[in-house]
Amino acid sequence: MRLDSEDRRFRFFEEPEEFLMALHAGAAVADGRIVVGCESEGQIRGVGELLADAQDPRRGELAFSVERDWRRRGLGRALMQAMIDAARDKSFRCLELEILPDNLAMQNLARRFTSDLQRRNGNVIATIGACVTKSRV
Ligand SMILES: CC(C)(COP(=O)(O)OP(=O)(O)OC[C@H]1O[C@@H](n2cnc3c(N)ncnc32)[C@H](O)[C@@H]1OP(=O)(O)O)[C@@H](O)C(=O)NCCC(=O)NCCS
Repeated sequence: MRLDSEDRRFRFFEEPEEFLMALHAGAAVADGRIVVGCESEGQIRGVGELLADAQDPRRGELAFSVERDWRRRGLGRALMQAMIDAARDKSFRCLELEILPDNLAMQNLARRFTSDLQRRNGNVIATIGACVTKSRV
């Protein structure tokens, strides 16, 4: 809820209404997906989640957010590494991040983990691991 308007667009590709964000957060901690948070003094300052593909449970999509005042301290990178490690433990073989073309921070962060960044449907897809091409253009 502390994400600002631009952050919400980068994270959700639109600016969802507050109640939808609350529903999203509730589902994220309740439906069995992998969620990793960075906590400081009782407050969550960054969070990452891994959602398994409904058709292929060994394929997953990663998404992250770090609060603005907590950025550029390595939290994003630590979250990404923790999510990759957790995915490996759960036998995921392919992870993807879908990133808006103007979200250079996330593209740069993704490049720390993979050189496979490609355009698909106007967005940037960063791929980690052995992904069989789905509908890449
Ligand atoms: C993308 C995001 C998660 C990065 O979090 P962070 O904690 O600042 O990331 P880190 O401090 O670990 O940075 C790791 C690397 O990412 C890149 N990076 C991070 N922020 C950047 C920025 N503003 N501009 C350019 N590169 C950036 C850099 O390569 C950085 O390494 P460096 O600090 O050694 O140069 C954060 O900016 C964010 O929450 N953005 C809004 C939500 C969002 O875009 N989510 C992604 C949806 S897929």
